[in-house]
Amino acid sequence: MNMSINRKVLLSILLVSFMAIPGLNAEPVDDTQPSLYDRLGGLAPISVVVSDFLDALVPDPMLNQNPAIDAARQVVPKPYLKYHVTAMVCQATGGPCQYHGRSMKEAHAHLNITEAEWDRMVSVFEELLASHEVPEQESMELLAIIDSTKADIVMVTTP
Ligand code: HEM
Repeated sequence: MNMSINRKVLLSILLVSFMAIPGLNAEPVDDTQPSLYDRLGGLAPISVVVSDFLDALVPDPMLNQNPAIDAARQVVPKPYLKYHVTAMVCQATGGPCQYHGRSMKEAHAHLNITEAEWDRMVSVFEELLASHEVPEQESMELLAIIDSTKADIVMVTTP
């Protein structure tokens, strides 16, 4: 009985101290399952999937019909994009990286990206996840991360 009260007090103290550390996420941590980053196998496989994704996306003829996308992909080095997107995915999945690039709004505002172009990008990504045999659950979580950026990236919405 006493033991269980002491445990509760100790847990509360730990929780309060954790939440008081500036810069740490005060959300309760779900440590019942490994992070998406760990389930994907860490930075090496993530970097391979991102690299293959950009190799498929950058020369895509449908996307490059948009003159702003075509112009940007000719001047922005692909390795630079691979670096930034890898860091972003690593961070967003709970890995140890920190993304230091521009916000999604700032990086894409001049590209006039449409809903149809967004859908094309998502289908290229889905094909890639399938070809790398990324399991269903992890694929869904990655697609949700991508989807969370849509409002900042798509500038031309269809009525
Ligand atoms: C149809 C969808 C998309 C297209 C056509 C697209 C295209 C581009 C292009 C052309 C650039 C270079 C822009 C420039 O510097 O002038 C860029 C930058 C970038 N994109 Fe996308 N993008 C798309 C979606 C996404 C998504 C879903 C993400 C991440 C979840 C993403 C992450 C980035 C990052 C991290 C950069 C670099 C930011 C920086 O330079 O600081 N993009 N994108």
